[in-house]
Amino acid sequence: MKILVCGKGGSGKSTICILLAKSLQKCGFNILLVDTDESNYGLHRLMGVLPSKNLMDNLGGKKKFKEKINPTYPLLSGESIFPDKMKISDIPKESLVQSEGLNLLVIGKIHDFGEGCACPMGVLSKMILSKLVIDDGEIIIVDTEAGIEHFGRKVDAECDLILSVVDPTFESFLLNKKIKDMAEKACIQYHSILNKVTNDVEGIMLKNVDQDKVIGKIPYNNTLFMENLKGEQLKISIPEMDKISGIITNIIKR
Ligand SMILES: Nc1ncnc2c1ncn2[C@@H]1O[C@H](COP(=O)(O)OP(=O)(O)OP(=O)(O)O)[C@@H](O)[C@H]1O
Ligand SMILES: [Mg+2]
Repeated sequence: MKILVCGKGGSGKSTICILLAKSLQKCGFNILLVDTDESNYGLHRLMGVLPSKNLMDNLGGKKKFKEKINPTYPLLSGESIFPDKMKISDIPKESLVQSEGLNLLVIGKIHDFGEGCACPMGVLSKMILSKLVIDDGEIIIVDTEAGIEHFGRKVDAECDLILSVVDPTFESFLLNKKIKDMAEKACIQYHSILNKVTNDVEGIMLKNVDQDKVIGKIPYNNTLFMENLKGEQLKISIPEMDKISGIITNIIKR
């Protein structure tokens, strides 16, 4: 299964990607995390690894990549960059980072002032996700940039499940509604996870989401927040996440 995690900026997408990856790993799955966020380095940090070369850099950078997928150069068309059907083990080793048994593939990051937009990263994300064929015991978890640009780039179309992370802000409720509508339009399974939940906000959060689609409520956790504030690796586990993994495992079995 390919799971795409999305939501408002700062809602907890990257945090939930790591927590979910660790929890599903405990259930016996082999996990590949794909970082499609072209700005933040949050996943590296939360996994306790240093930023390293990413897939786009290893393909020669955005300019070279654009040349390679240019249809006026048929020999260098997108098809030739990767085989049509790829396994996780076919991903070039120099583009993968490992930490505690989890694999991280970073698509690409913006490096320089005036280097142009991040659209090639979107194309590359969609391309590699479309070619990756996964075995039964494998799960791909895709961390996205804030907002819904990934829908515009149709990255979601390559995934089987969209998890919308909702934090206690009204903007997050509005964006979650939009994500749900877009997922339904694209015929992709959608669920939401409520994050940073405290007793006083839980009722309001539940009123503002489709409750039938909520697969978990992650409490606000100050230790997690403080670890992140200090730039530390994410070490704690959240019991609620194991319930969410159980639900996802059942979705996979269906
Ligand atoms: N359950 C939680 N309890 C407390 N703090 C949390 C929780 N989940 C996430 N946070 C904090 O919220 C902040 C944003 O988290 P995170 O970076 O995971 O969000 P994001 O959605 O990936 O952000 P971005 O849109 O910038 O990529 C961090 O300070 C993180 O520690
Ligand atoms: Mg993030």
